[in-house]
Order: sequence, then structure tokens, then C-alpha cells
Amino acid sequence: MDQRHAQEILQRGRTVILIPFSTNLAQEIAGHFQRFLKEVSEDERARWSFNGEGNEDPDGSPDDGYIPRKGEMKGDGDRYDEKDIFHFRPRLLDFLKQNDVNYEPWRPWLNKCLTLYRLCFGKEAELLLDIDRLKPGYDCLRQFVDLEADQLHVLRIVQYVPHGSVDDNTVGKKHLDRNFLTFQIAESRPGLRYFPDGSDDPVVYKAQHDHVLAFPGRKFAKNTGGEVPALAHDIVNVGECDPTTGRWSVIFFGHIVEPLEETAHVAAAASAAVAAAGQF
Ligand SMILES: [Fe+2]
Repeated sequence: MDQRHAQEILQRGRTVILIPFSTNLAQEIAGHFQRFLKEVSEDERARWSFNGEGNEDPDGSPDDGYIPRKGEMKGDGDRYDEKDIFHFRPRLLDFLKQNDVNYEPWRPWLNKCLTLYRLCFGKEAELLLDIDRLKPGYDCLRQFVDLEADQLHVLRIVQYVPHGSVDDNTVGKKHLDRNFLTFQIAESRPGLRYFPDGSDDPVVYKAQHDHVLAFPGRKFAKNTGGEVPALAHDIVNVGECDPTTGRWSVIFFGHIVEPLEETAHVAAAASAAVAAAGQF
């Protein structure tokens, strides 16, 4: 991989990298999820929810498989944004088997999730290797490929509602991701806005075919002692959106096991910039 990407992460807090096949895979995966939401009853969908080992969800709610968010309260008194989430980790197949879920009709979907998961895992490892070359002290790659961290990396498919609950246009409140390094893979329409260098002026990101936006979450900020801050972002309806359809997006969240201490610098930046800490 071109070393420029590692430099951009360290200096600008984001970069855009090529992942071949990622856009088409993400589109197909999102399409399968929409069909799943339409064709599978709520009771049956509940059997696709699991609480696997290493779950770091602050509220301890299920973190594998299907995760409905209906705008319920979180532990910190804030509300979750309303959306339907699907979390794919390779272990999901074992959970489905143990729970006697007939996932055969959905195997093409799960296979595509596994392919995209692996593509993202490989690219993230390459990027972290380059970051380690520039900053050996951060020790990123070893922590990323650690067996315990392997329980945490996740491919997420999000189906947002057409309109936000707090205001019509905000479907995802401003936040920092709580993982290590995020890959924003594909989206049905623009709407992810990031706030560069801690500014209040958001930039709307527009996904290009087979390119993903990579940016640090809170674990990256902690791991660098605050030298590389997490990138704040939100999700909004921009331009002429079809008022009847919600946006979807596909994201890969790379993790490391939680660094031990959050520096004062990171904690202050997080509380100032973040309306909804603890969200992905
Ligand atoms: Fe996020």
C-alpha cells in the first residue's frame, strides 16, 4: 500500500483507500439486509441476536447478528438513533447453528459478508503495518491481529430511518466511533459528514466506487496518547432525498483490546465534541 495513506491518517486523521470489489459487495449485502427486514418476522429476527464473548457494548445489549434500535434510552441518559443494524463476525455462523436458526436461505448473504469482512481485515492490517513503520511505538498491527481483538472486529450494515428523531434531517447524531480504525465502505447516498481537525464545519463525504474512507476511533486516540484524535462525524439527509426511503451504509470497525487508560486529553476532546459517546 502507498505509504501516503498512513501519513494521512497520522497527519489529517483520515484517508481514502482502494478496496477492489467493495462497493458491489456492500450494495449486494445491503440489498439482502433489506429483504431480511421485509421477509423475516420480528419474532424470527430476534433469534438472530446474540451476545458474544468480548461484547463491548456499554449497555451490554446484543452485539452480534440482528440489532434493532428503536430510539431507546442508553445508559448515559441519551437515546440511540433509530435504525436497524446487522453485525457480522465470522463466529455468527456458529451462533446461528447453536440456536437452530435455519440460515440456509440466507447463506449467499452471509458468504458475501464474510468475503467483505476478510477484504477489509486484510486492507486494515496493511494500513496498520505502514503506520507502524512511521510510528513503531504505536504498535498497531500486533494489537489488531491479536486473538482477543479478533472477537471484536465487525462488519456493520445499517438501515437508517428516513427521518431523525431529534430533528428531521439528522439520522445519526455527532459522535466519535469507539473502535480503533473505521472503514466507511459504501452508502446508498451521501450523508456522512466529518468534522476535520476538531472544527465545527462539517464536510460531506461522498463515497467513490471501490474506495473506503478510513479514520480513527477512540481506541486509536487512546493508543496514541491523544496524538491522533478520533474523527467526529454525524449522519444527515443532504440534498434532495427520497422522503420515503432511509439511507443504508456498510462499515467495517477494526478493533484492538481496550487500551488501559484514556488520557485526559482524549477524555476532554471526547466530552467536548461528542453528543453521543459510546455509539459506533
Ligand atoms: Fe460512527
